[in-house]
Amino acid sequence: MRANHLYEADKAHFVHQQTDLDAFAKTGPVLMEKGDGVFVFDTQGKNYIEAMAGLWCSSLGFSEKRLAEAAYQQMLKLPYYHTFWGKGHEPSAELAERLTAIAPPGLNHALFQCSGSECNDAALKLVWYYNNIIGRPQKKKVIGRIRGYHGNTVATASLSGQPHMQADFDLPYGDRFLHISNPNFYREGREGETERQFSARMAAELEALIEKEGGETIAAFFAEPVQGGGGALTPPEGYFELIQPILKKHDILFVVDEVICGFGRTGNMWGSQTYGIEPDMLSCAKQLSASYQPISALLISDRIHEALVEGSRKHGSLGHGYTYGGHPVACAVAIETLKIYEERDIVSHVRAVSPAFLATLKGFAGHPLVGDVRGVGLIAGIELMQDKNGRVPFPAARKAGALVQKKAEENGLIIRAIGDRLAFCPPLIITETEIVEMGRRFATALNEAQKELL
Ligand SMILES: Cc1ncc(COP(=O)(O)O)c(C=O)c1O
Repeated sequence: MRANHLYEADKAHFVHQQTDLDAFAKTGPVLMEKGDGVFVFDTQGKNYIEAMAGLWCSSLGFSEKRLAEAAYQQMLKLPYYHTFWGKGHEPSAELAERLTAIAPPGLNHALFQCSGSECNDAALKLVWYYNNIIGRPQKKKVIGRIRGYHGNTVATASLSGQPHMQADFDLPYGDRFLHISNPNFYREGREGETERQFSARMAAELEALIEKEGGETIAAFFAEPVQGGGGALTPPEGYFELIQPILKKHDILFVVDEVICGFGRTGNMWGSQTYGIEPDMLSCAKQLSASYQPISALLISDRIHEALVEGSRKHGSLGHGYTYGGHPVACAVAIETLKIYEERDIVSHVRAVSPAFLATLKGFAGHPLVGDVRGVGLIAGIELMQDKNGRVPFPAARKAGALVQKKAEENGLIIRAIGDRLAFCPPLIITETEIVEMGRRFATALNEAQKELL
C-alpha cells in the first residue's frame, strides 16, 4: 500500500486490536476510506466485497443514509443524556419498547450497553446478583464452550474459550469459569457417529460436568446459536434440543449470546428461533444498529427483573451502569435500523438469498482444499484440509487459512480465517448478483492458494 502521511502515522502510533503486531510492523495497515452497499474501498481506491460485514455487524452495508440522518437529527435535538437515577429520553424508551416487542417470549426488559462485551459482562454480573438476591449465594459458576466467544472484558474473555485471548492476560480470572467441548461435528465427530449421536455426547459431557461440580454451584450456561469467533460454526443436529432439558433440570440459566445471530442473520429474527432455544437472558449488539453506532442490549425475563427490583430494596439502587449505556444517538440509530428491517422485511430477504449463498459456498465442497462447508441464513464456514479424504488438517505452521484470506483480499474479497476455517457473513442486504461475484473472487483466491499449499 502506498505510503502517505496518515499511513505512516497509523504504523507509528495506532495500536491495532487483534493484530499480529510483529508482522504489522513490516506490512503496515490497510486503511479503508469509504463504503457503498456491500463494498468498501481502501485509500488506494481498491474495492472489496465485505463478505464479513466488517465484524459480523454491518447488516445494512456501508452507505445507508437513513442511519446517518437519524444520528444527525438526534445530535441536533439531544446529543447526550444518561440513563442513571431514573432519567432517560424518548429514544431509549422507544428502543426498549420496540426490542421487547420482537424479543423471544418472556424477555420483557432491556438494559442498554455499548458493546457485545459489555452486554455479556453485564449478563454475568446479573447472573451472580440474581442468585445472591434470591438466596442462592453458592450458585455462581458459569459454563462456556471451548472456542466460544463472548467478549474481551476480564470476565467475558474468561468465559470465552479462546486461548489466545487468555494467554499472558492471566485469564480465566478466578475459578468460576468452566468450559465444555466445542461442538464441531466435522472435526470432533467419531468414526461411525451420527450428528445427533455427537450432539448427545456433547450434552452428556455437559451433564457430567454439572454433576461433578454439583448443580447447586452452577448458575448459567452461555452459548451462541451459531458460533462466530469459533469458526462460523452451526450447531450439530439436536444440540440445543438435548442441552436445554439438562439446564432446566439443574435450574441453570441459559444466556443466549445473539450478538452475531440477532436480527435476521440465521433466517429468523433470532438464532433462538432457528434452533428452538428458550433464553432466560439474551444479549444482542452489532446488527441492532447495523453497527453504525456502538450499542448493545441485554434482554431479561420478568423473574430476573423482579430480583433486580428486590436488590434495589436491599441496596438502594441497581449498582450497575455506564456513562454511554443507552446513548440517545445510538438508540435513535438502532430505532431507524429496526424500522428499515421491518419495512424491507429483512428476514424474508435473508431467506430469499440464503439458498444462493449456501449453494455458492457448497459448490466449493469438491475443491481439493475444502473439507467441509456448513452454514445457515447468511453465515457459513468453510474448513480447509490438507488431505480431505484422509481428514488430515494442515499443520498450524502452514497458516493455510491466513493464506486464503490474503489471496481473497488481493482479489477484492474480505473473508476471515479462524485457524483454517474461513468465515463468510456478508451484509444482510447482499443480492444474488453480488453473491455470484463473491463466489467468483473466492474461487480465484482458493485456486491461487492451492498452488502454494498442495
Ligand atoms: C458472539 C459474540 N459475542 C460477543 C462479542 C463481543 O462484542 P464486542 O466486540 O461488541 O464487544 C462478539 C464480537 O464479535 C461476538 O461475536
